[in-house]
Amino acid sequence: MKRIAIFASGSGSNFQAIVDSVKAGSLQAEVSLLVCDQEQAKVIERANQAGVPTYVFTAKSFSSKKHYEEAILTELKNYEIDWLVLAGYMRLVGETLLHAYDGRIVNIHPSLLPAFPGLDAIGQAFEAKVKITGVTVHFVDEGMDTGPIIAQEAVRIEEHDTYESLQANIQKVEHDLYPKTIEAILTGGAK
Ligand code: GRF
Repeated sequence: MKRIAIFASGSGSNFQAIVDSVKAGSLQAEVSLLVCDQEQAKVIERANQAGVPTYVFTAKSFSSKKHYEEAILTELKNYEIDWLVLAGYMRLVGETLLHAYDGRIVNIHPSLLPAFPGLDAIGQAFEAKVKITGVTVHFVDEGMDTGPIIAQEAVRIEEHDTYESLQANIQKVEHDLYPKTIEAILTGGAK
């Protein structure tokens, strides 16, 4: 069974969807660690509830990205982590982790990349008044939301949609697409 670490900074609804899929048996993996950079994040509660060990760090208490990523790497080794799954992790992954987990880091982004990379992709799409946006799962490289695309699903923006309703529709798709895509990657069905 592959051992995954989920990296998150916020609410963790994708963390929950992944944990739930593992429980339901539709995702064959072990969620072995949560890595979180925000002490107050709701995702930590979710991990505690699910019995997933957590590594919570404060970037500011390290002198550089290299130093905090080395500390993370030590934890990943302790927990014998095979894959890194970013789910709302609000930091760019640096050289240390990219090098150690080359080709084994994935991310989910709430737009049809390469459109609307970076912060608040849902707001960007809403403001741009596009009719279709969506969700992308991709491999992580050194750029911001730039790695090779693994899976995408479209979400239509209707006349009556608000930011909130669009966000809800996007999240619904994310919670289905991410566990499914991780399963495909781990079983060698997605490249
Ligand atoms: C998701 O929309 C994901 O696509 C983006 O950050 C958000 C995280 O949401 N990268 P949650 O913390 O999983 O609820």
